Amino acid sequence: MFDRSRLEAGLPIVGLGKPLHLFSTIDSTNARALELGQAGAPHGTLVVADEQTSGRGRAGRRWLTPPRSAIALSLLLRWDPPVDGVSGALSGFGALSVAEAAEGLGAQVEIKWPNDVLVAGKKVAGVLVEAQWQGSLLASAVVGIGINVRPGSVPGPDQVGYPAGCLEQAIGRRIDREALILDVVRAAGRWFSLLGSHEMLEGWEARLAFRGMQVSVDDGGVRLRGRLENLHTDGRMVLLTDQGQRLIIGPTAADLRPIDR
Ligand code: BTN
Repeated sequence: MFDRSRLEAGLPIVGLGKPLHLFSTIDSTNARALELGQAGAPHGTLVVADEQTSGRGRAGRRWLTPPRSAIALSLLLRWDPPVDGVSGALSGFGALSVAEAAEGLGAQVEIKWPNDVLVAGKKVAGVLVEAQWQGSLLASAVVGIGINVRPGSVPGPDQVGYPAGCLEQAIGRRIDREALILDVVRAAGRWFSLLGSHEMLEGWEARLAFRGMQVSVDDGGVRLRGRLENLHTDGRMVLLTDQGQRLIIGPTAADLRPIDR
């Protein structure tokens, strides 16, 4: 379990992480952060759990968070007044925050668009953004981050759609999970202030996996193939297909992978 006083001593960071809701076991930190948001919890609210029993992944999948081996956290973000045009960047925001924290530990990180964090070609972290809208404007969002830290957190090959690994295997030494939580929140504070900016796009693109390669991606149920060119300014992925350029949006895209040639 996590040490509450140690986490609280390091929080908030740039407005994120207060109040802290810490659980030894919970169904899903995203579900709890959404409930807290509906009950009026402030911007920056952080939910952390040592174990999740019904962790949520993208595209309706499950996300495993066994005890003492992983990190599961969710940040509640609010915009008052509601904003336009940053929702595409939110996936990148979560992935960049993990990437920067992992790089601080010496890992070489790639981001499998939109928001999977890869180290040595294996997925070590995922991000689930659940947004609340006021009409077409973004009023609040829960950004949920799951990180496989120790070997015990790595799901078996039959449980995942993409090869999974963990940070400790990647860097070859023990990781202090509380310090890593604080590093992720620290990076999140920085990237939040740059949300949707050119600098953020550059940071995301610089780590983009499979750039310039032939890839296939599920775009809202339709399988597309083409060359992964770069990112559009709003965070959409630019795919050059035989029929021309396609801009793919993050929330409905899934299962990006390189095509073996
Ligand atoms: C993915 O499918 O890659 C996204 C996984 C996101 C998992 C995290 S763990 C913390 C937060 N709470 C959840 O229920 N899901 C997210």
